[in-house]
Amino acid sequence: MRRAVCPGSFDPVTLGHLDIVGRAASLFDEVVVAVGVNASKNRMFTAEERMDMLREACAPWSNVRVDGFSGLLTTFCSEHGVHAIVKGLRAVSDFDYELQMAQMNASLSHVETVFVPTSPEFSFLASSLVKEVATFGGDVSTLVPAFVDERLRARIAENAAAR
Ligand code: PNS
Repeated sequence: MRRAVCPGSFDPVTLGHLDIVGRAASLFDEVVVAVGVNASKNRMFTAEERMDMLREACAPWSNVRVDGFSGLLTTFCSEHGVHAIVKGLRAVSDFDYELQMAQMNASLSHVETVFVPTSPEFSFLASSLVKEVATFGGDVSTLVPAFVDERLRARIAENAAAR
């Protein structure tokens, strides 16, 4: 059984993430989508909310499951029998940091990192941009699953009402 992990913040999951998850699912026997719960960034959604959205979005793939992790990704990999970390590369600008993380992770454990080139239609896509565009009223309906679009709008409305 070859098991891979697709790690990330997924705040929220986008069609770009799902492009990589789906392709990882065709390359490996099992894929764990691992949501980092380290409190290092301002999140729009809680870890539970991000995992719920991912579970719904990944339901079509029978060999994909969703989990959360805190601490080091390599610790999660050794505790869950994960052989490979799958990362999407959108552009050359992603490469420097991803290479550095891949080499650091390789120095910490025997886990391999596999880079998958993002499909061109998603090469500009990032959760941070999706949140910014949606917050200012832009249409992100072609960039995230429909139910995520709804949850984004609801959260933005809640945040606005709370101010
Ligand atoms: O979606 P993101 O924010 O780019 O995901 C980054 C993530 C969660 C994959 C990365 O920050 C990570 O692996 N964090 C876990 C902590 C860790 O292992 N750090 C050392 C990386 S070399």
